[in-house]
Amino acid sequence: MKILFLNPAGLIGGAERALLDVIASLRTARPDWPLTLIAAASGDLIEEVRALGADVSVVEFPRSLAVVGDAGLGGPQASYRRSLGLAGRLSAAAPAVILYRRRLRRAIAGAAPDLVHTNGFKMHVLGAWESPRNVPVLWHIHDFVRMRPMMSRLLRTHARRCAAIVANSHSVADDVRSVVGRRPPIFTVYNAIDLARFAPGGPLLDLDRLAGMPPLGGNGVRVGIVATMARWKGHETFLRALAMLPASAPIRAYVIGGPRYETAGSQYTIAELRALAVQLGVADRVGFTGFVNAAAPAMRALDVVVHASTQPEPFGLVIAEAMACGRAVIASGAGGAAEIIEDGVDALAHRPGDAAALARLIALLAGDAALRRRLGQAAVLASARRFARARLAADLAPIYCAITRPAA
Ligand code: GLC
Repeated sequence: MKILFLNPAGLIGGAERALLDVIASLRTARPDWPLTLIAAASGDLIEEVRALGADVSVVEFPRSLAVVGDAGLGGPQASYRRSLGLAGRLSAAAPAVILYRRRLRRAIAGAAPDLVHTNGFKMHVLGAWESPRNVPVLWHIHDFVRMRPMMSRLLRTHARRCAAIVANSHSVADDVRSVVGRRPPIFTVYNAIDLARFAPGGPLLDLDRLAGMPPLGGNGVRVGIVATMARWKGHETFLRALAMLPASAPIRAYVIGGPRYETAGSQYTIAELRALAVQLGVADRVGFTGFVNAAAPAMRALDVVVHASTQPEPFGLVIAEAMACGRAVIASGAGGAAEIIEDGVDALAHRPGDAAALARLIALLAGDAALRRRLGQAAVLASARRFARARLAADLAPIYCAITRPAA
């Protein structure tokens, strides 16, 4: 079976990390299946997919299309005003979109796939438009749709052209169902991760050096948020929680990550977060590392990994990765994130956006090394059960086969 993946971005965010794991899993389980990726921008994704042995080409979005989005990319929030802005920008982009559609149609036809697997909103729509009629299209949905009016409308309108939907959690599947209605069928396929890379043992990153801070003393506890800078990822909640802890607590906080995506206005800048840290009086207790490529070594260097999304998290790869690294994880307990942890057993959960609750959990873990160890050990075992990459091909292959086989 020849599978063509369409991805709107070239940089590696959550959806791209998930795509890489899908491709890696399929390469291992079905080495005879030719895999091709068309990405709409260049970036690290291209080389990583090539390294996995798949064909890659870039059919670059015109600038006007690249910056269009009705929420922070990868984000659940949207507002009516934002959505109107999107409609305006989309029509402004129209001539460029028409040209782009033509180029994409030719590229898809050239790849001659048996199946098109799209991995992002713009590609769900463009894939539905430009794939040959007889080729089934599968939408792999990584984010909530309902709160994004424009995307909801577009997906509802094009759902008839989609043969199956894969959602990264039951929460996302339910949300998508409420938008598209009875058809097409929706399958939940939880993400998986590379457990060889995300493991308790391995190199550590020197977070203090990266953040330009003096080395932390022996009994200091490192607590960090590892996330893209999308506003809903909860950096502000994290900093506010830190401000609620006594300055004398032996805790150093780290903000690990930097702005990456192109969608306008949806992200914090590091300067903004630094200013907030100053305003909250915690500037000397928090280090900003900027974007870090080596996620596992960064997580291993932390004692506690905080996930603080202020909206329900569709899945939360960072949670799975930090658990596999054997860290004590505090997650924001809503959406898919709440499905992939067992609160109190392999991670702790707080209510999204509740800085006081987050502060209490940070204080609890900072003061109890045995609890951190217990959670970390349970997390490693849970990850082996839930997040092994081989499951992806096992889950996806039957769906691919069902939609490519003509109905009996
Ligand atoms: C999106 C979601 C995130 C998920 C990732 C991979 O980025 O917002 O929750 O982990 O996709 O599915």
